Amino acid sequence: KKPHPLLIAIDGPAGAGKTTVSKMLARDLGYRYLDTGALYRGVAYEVRAAGVAADDDAGLERVCQTLQLEFRDSRLISNGVDISGCIRIPEITMLASAVSARPVVRQALLDLQRSLGRAKALVAEGRDMGTVVFPDADLKFFLDASVRQRALRRFEQYGEAGKQTLERIEQEIRQRDANDSSRDVAPLKPADDAVTIDSTAMDVRHVVAKMMEHVASLIS
Ligand code: DC
Repeated sequence: KKPHPLLIAIDGPAGAGKTTVSKMLARDLGYRYLDTGALYRGVAYEVRAAGVAADDDAGLERVCQTLQLEFRDSRLISNGVDISGCIRIPEITMLASAVSARPVVRQALLDLQRSLGRAKALVAEGRDMGTVVFPDADLKFFLDASVRQRALRRFEQYGEAGKQTLERIEQEIRQRDANDSSRDVAPLKPADDAVTIDSTAMDVRHVVAKMMEHVASLIS
């Protein structure tokens, strides 16, 4: 049995519902929530602003050296500016996936993520929480779902305003899966000791309830 509070790692592919589920789990447990994808998006945002190419390692390193990313009330602040409203557009999404394959970027974010996650009572969401950043996490989940289901959820989320077809979204998800899983450093994969949950036919409440069962059996 583990002492409360725990450090919980949640990994999985794009669109599996990690964000919604992680936030709910954190809220139900009274834990903090760490969105590491936002950090990669923050790097992508600054990389674009600096006019640096995604494969220019020297340029990426320069950007990372002056980078000051922090969360304030769940807003992402980069070098003092709130960029939360600018990091979810498709261009930044794909650029985040591209720069996240570069070791120089992953290394730069490693210490930051570990310092943000130092205290327990945390739900950390990403691609390599259980495998690389927090290998000693008390509980690790790998949240998966079919590509079609993930595309459908994104499609419904974007709604009319999204102006993207389901096919387009599905294609983008496939591309991101391929990027995120095939990179050499910290590729997307379940940790050996992760609990895999397939949410294709489950709603978020159901997924959170299942996670809570694991939490309960660990601490009680
Ligand atoms: O979870 P997200 O869609 O906000 O993540 C954006 C990109 O960042 C994703 O394509 C892969 C990368 N990422 C990563 O490589 N490692 C993490 N721990 C989190 C995100």
